[in-house]
Amino acid sequence: MLVGKPLLGEKEIQAKVKELAEAISRDFAGEELVAIGILKGAFMFYSDLIRHIDVPVTVDFIIASSYLKTESTGEVRIHADIREDISGKNVLLVEDIVDTGITLNHIRERILQRAPARLAVTALLDKRERRIVDVPIEYKGFEIPDRYVVGYGLDFDGKFRNLPYISIFKRSE
Ligand code: PRP
Repeated sequence: MLVGKPLLGEKEIQAKVKELAEAISRDFAGEELVAIGILKGAFMFYSDLIRHIDVPVTVDFIIASSYLKTESTGEVRIHADIREDISGKNVLLVEDIVDTGITLNHIRERILQRAPARLAVTALLDKRERRIVDVPIEYKGFEIPDRYVVGYGLDFDGKFRNLPYISIFKRSE
């Protein structure tokens, strides 16, 4: 297994994360926010993002998965759900990557059933070429090509999530 040279370096990622947090803070100025991280992949983006958000934030998480190695199964499994009552509140969904859109769409619909006052999504990476389900992303970091990427929360078979940068993953034969 090989991790190639960084597609997105640490400095570039951190600058973008700060930019996203500033846009979110501006749009929700004077209000409160429940920030829901979609785990596991979003853990690093989430923790970097919320430390730059300057409106009052409540943290919560949902654990979901749909991938086996590099392939989407198309079925979203929810392993743990949020604990906050989000009815009538402003909710920000925080996702590391939108690929087919199946995961985000499933979770978005699930959140909307709980009647938040306002729902917005931030995703660090958008692999648009792979989209199957159209889903809105209000705060988008980077559009990336259709290559399998790891690092900064993203894994291959559970590994590489701890890298502070994002790389294209290559399988060595
Ligand atoms: C990854 C990623 C997104 C989802 C995106 O999660 O974190 O949640 O896939 O793909 P999609 O748009 O095709 O649904 P994964 O199922 O690998 O679980 P993980 O977050 O634990 O890595």
